[in-house]
Amino acid sequence: MAKYVKEIMISREEIDQMCRRLGERISQDYEGKEVTLIGVLKGAYTFMADLARCITVPVRIDFMSVSSYGSGTRTSGIVRITKDLDADISHKHVIVVEDIVDSGLTLKHLRQLLGTRNPASIALCTAFDKPARRRVDVDIEYVGMQISDEFVVGYGLDYDGKYRNLPDVCIIGDDSKEETNEA
Ligand code: IMP
Ligand code: MG
Repeated sequence: MAKYVKEIMISREEIDQMCRRLGERISQDYEGKEVTLIGVLKGAYTFMADLARCITVPVRIDFMSVSSYGSGTRTSGIVRITKDLDADISHKHVIVVEDIVDSGLTLKHLRQLLGTRNPASIALCTAFDKPARRRVDVDIEYVGMQISDEFVVGYGLDYDGKYRNLPDVCIIGDDSKEETNEA
């Protein structure tokens, strides 16, 4: 366990099972169709890679990047696209893939925005969900795991740009939050 980790909340093994469960459900729900997975950068990159490999129907991959105005661990509610999709999604079956849902503002906004581009269908998928922190109503078709209201890192999730590479989902110690980028 890395020195800045206080506690492992979700192990790599549990995450693997979660991806397999979601992949099976998606493969059944989209049988005979092709899906376009849209990963929300940067946090979703790890989950996207694992999930895609658990899906047995044909898959296309695209990414977009959004930033919500605000600082630290709170969002302001305004979502701005900083990298748009490469491909046209009209007549495609789209699944937006997120790392974690907190207020719900990002996914609510993305569903509305992508919905205007004439996809055949649109669904939302997140690895982790913190329902206690929801500020807006958003239906999420595929939720890997619900977790308690705690700030977590690892498996793509960051604190101040760091810790995305940790293989498990972890709670970091308060001293790790104060650590500077000296390395
Ligand atoms: P929402 O728009 O408030 O639902 O924000 C979701 C985004 O906030 C996620 O994509 C993450 O980038 C970030 N986020 C929310 N909770 C956490 C956390 O516990 N650790 C790391 N990032 C988080
Ligand atoms: Mg994110």
